[in-house]
Amino acid sequence: MINVKDLHVYYGLIEAVKGISFEVEEGQIVSLIGSNGAGKTSTLEALLNNVKKTGEINFSGFDTVNHKTHSLVQRGLSLVPEGRRVFINLSVEDNLRMGAFNNDENYERLKDVMYGLFPRIKEKRLQMAGTLSGGEQQMLAISRALMSEPKLLMLDEPSLGLAPKIVGEVFEIITRLKEEGITILLVEQNAFAALRISDYAYVLENGKIAMQGIAKDMIGDDEIRKKYLGG
Ligand SMILES: Nc1ncnc2c1ncn2[C@@H]1O[C@H](COP(=O)(O)OP(=O)(O)OP(=O)(O)O)[C@@H](O)[C@H]1O
Ligand SMILES: [Mg+2]
Repeated sequence: MINVKDLHVYYGLIEAVKGISFEVEEGQIVSLIGSNGAGKTSTLEALLNNVKKTGEINFSGFDTVNHKTHSLVQRGLSLVPEGRRVFINLSVEDNLRMGAFNNDENYERLKDVMYGLFPRIKEKRLQMAGTLSGGEQQMLAISRALMSEPKLLMLDEPSLGLAPKIVGEVFEIITRLKEEGITILLVEQNAFAALRISDYAYVLENGKIAMQGIAKDMIGDDEIRKKYLGG
């Protein structure tokens, strides 16, 4: 689905991502885990061509270098950004409409799919997005990203700032999306929660991949438990 080779991301003189390579196979959930400043968000922004970078990114058989962000969205790449970033002064429904900016003809149908998937979002469809709870905003951000019917959905720290029970709900939804055939690239600091639902994972440290492996094996590995999962 996506294949990344020797990716570097730069902010002026700062090199935030220092030559990482990874891939996400179709139908899988792959996690990028790592602490603050490891380069997780920068990596996702690089896949959308939003930052200065070098390296090769092949998505569904084409080189993303030649495409602008909106064209990549058109071709099936969608991001749920860190901190959700819903349009707080628009209604829930208008947020969904924005998510379908390139997919207008399917808006009505997809809106109903989202309301089926997220009944709480349906209940609040006429409310301003800024008045939703954190968990509801996260669900709205996910459904907004799904309105473009992505092949690869990227989620940047969907669990951030949510109560444990809501985190569980959000991760259940991510698993369900995988079952619906959407490939997922999940960025998380909550390593344990991410590994539990992932097929494969990469640990980012200081802009480099420090470790990678099958998610189940990583949960079972004593050293990884000690270092990344709090023992
Ligand atoms: N716009 C920017 N200008 C300068 N430096 C930046 C910019 N964005 C990110 N950085 C730096 O790049 C590095 C990686 O940041 P990034 O946001 O990718 O990390 P992250 O793994 O997503 O962290 P977090 O878990 O806190 O979200 C950090 O050192 C950060 O300070
Ligand atoms: Mg980040």
